[in-house]
Amino acid sequence: MVIFEREVLDLMSSPQKDILDVGYGWGVTSDYFYNKGVNSLTIIEIRKDIYNKALKWALDKPNVKVIYGDWIDIIPTLDKKFDGIYMDTFCPEDESFDINKSEEEQKKMLDYFLKEPSEKEWNKYISFEDYCKPIAKEGCILSIYEYSKFKKDLNFTIVDTDWGVDGYPKNHKFGWTYFYDGKFTKQQRIDVTEYLDSSVKSYLRASKVHGIGLFALVDIKKGEEVFPKWKGKTDWYKLKFSEAKHLPVEVLQYILRSFGSKIVSDDSEISFKLTKDCNFLLSEPLCLLNTQYEEGSVDSKTGIAIKDINKDEEIFGNYGNSSQIKLL
Ligand SMILES: C[S@@+](CC[C@H](N)C(=O)[O-])C[C@H]1O[C@@H](n2cnc3c(N)ncnc32)[C@H](O)[C@@H]1O
Repeated sequence: MVIFEREVLDLMSSPQKDILDVGYGWGVTSDYFYNKGVNSLTIIEIRKDIYNKALKWALDKPNVKVIYGDWIDIIPTLDKKFDGIYMDTFCPEDESFDINKSEEEQKKMLDYFLKEPSEKEWNKYISFEDYCKPIAKEGCILSIYEYSKFKKDLNFTIVDTDWGVDGYPKNHKFGWTYFYDGKFTKQQRIDVTEYLDSSVKSYLRASKVHGIGLFALVDIKKGEEVFPKWKGKTDWYKLKFSEAKHLPVEVLQYILRSFGSKIVSDDSEISFKLTKDCNFLLSEPLCLLNTQYEEGSVDSKTGIAIKDINKDEEIFGNYGNSSQIKLL
């Protein structure tokens, strides 16, 4: 079976690592962790038949522990901390976990993946990250299937997931975070898609206050760095439209407006330039901010948001005395 999540599983596994795999399913991820040679592997599985299958698989593996139950009940009872936590509980309740599926069976499963979960199910799913905090070692890597659907600031990779059936997405965004100082957060990588996804947050427009100003392209939360700089090489880069579709739509529109690529199909290439030590198109964005003094939304020295900023709101600095300019 193809392992779509290989990159993040590789990041998590090595001989000293203690891993938690939530949802045994086909046993693909557990098997992968085990074969990479981890220190210990703990599996939580809610379905009795799948739990029994996992138990059978684990019989000759002394460093594997299989626990029967719902993760929401089991995690608070664990007396162990982990270096890596992988969570994928997404599947229809009656999933057969056959590896050789007919096209009809394959479509039934894929339709389930595309169906919106109920609000209650989704809220439980999202709470998984909080449940993991007490069982995460410092530096622990957490990956949750569909993580990017509820968390913006995360490391990710886009992988081909061609299921061999037409009409379904051919790639998927796998996200992960790292546990430091009590929080699961992103770690900077020099990855083009990740950079565009998390760092292009503003655009230039005429200001009602003065001349031009910078406006929020997406919602920005208090504490976020508003103008992160590209730390990779200055160069022209390309993304296929099928990959670019995973970016926030406002960011994709902005790239297209700025560099004008033509899209005819998923394979169309979107070209753009990134410049080292610049925030997308801007080398000194803080100098372009109008100020609202102590009412500003961004700290003019650090570039950190000091309050939530809504999409399309003007971003104001908090720098001092603009009247000094008039003295010149
Ligand atoms: C998509 S499969 C997991 C796939 C697995 N990672 C693999 O590579 O084969 C989902 C699994 O999660 C299990 N599951 C669903 N909800 C769960 C819950 N609340 N707690 C524990 N396991 C759950 C399902 O029974 C199923 O075995």
